[in-house]
Amino acid sequence: MNVFILNGSPRKGGNTDVLTEQAALGAVAGGATVEKVYLADYRIEPCDACDACLRTARCKKDDDMRPLYEKIWWADAFIIGTPVYWWGVSAQTKLFIDRWYALVERREALAGKPLAVIAPHGDASPHTADHVFGMFREIAAYRDMPLVGTQWAVGRPRRQAATNTAAMAEAFELGKKIAASSSGYPV
Ligand SMILES: Cc1cc2nc3c(=O)[nH]c(=O)nc-3n(C[C@H](O)[C@H](O)[C@H](O)COP(=O)(O)O)c2cc1C
Repeated sequence: MNVFILNGSPRKGGNTDVLTEQAALGAVAGGATVEKVYLADYRIEPCDACDACLRTARCKKDDDMRPLYEKIWWADAFIIGTPVYWWGVSAQTKLFIDRWYALVERREALAGKPLAVIAPHGDASPHTADHVFGMFREIAAYRDMPLVGTQWAVGRPRRQAATNTAAMAEAFELGKKIAASSSGYPV
């Protein structure tokens, strides 16, 4: 099981980083291999809605999504971490997800691959990440991806989440859970 971890925060060493790192440790403890990338390190252009991919099953843009498409293809499961920005995902995360449009005609790139989502935010409200989780719930259902878990935690200063023992344990367990998950879908 190869778990591909995507961190959509531009703040390295921040709360998304702390929690996804913890989930990575859990996934490794559960027997998985992990690869983690920072989306901010990749030059991802917006989808132009040219629809070329609907004919060719391939995005015609020559940018850093090329290596990411390759990694998506070979991944068995995903953990996506994004800070909550204005009750939604970060811009880096949205650019990346929009480019999944090129995978619509390549069902096996995503279908059956378990997904977990981690979304720290500054407010203490339990509803702050609702739109983020709702978006991924719909995406997972649309692409036949089992959504194995969602986690939010409060954090505004960099690494605040690291002081939250319960959140750290929850992230670790989420990683273990995704390592133990299997699709159950014939791909
Ligand atoms: C542009 C921007 C928008 C934000 N919007 C929200 C928000 O809507 N709700 C909230 O609770 N926190 C919001 N925050 C705070 C971040 O979600 C919080 O600091 C989070 O821990 C950042 O994660 P990171 O450390 O991984 O970057 C925002 C921060 C930024 C920079």
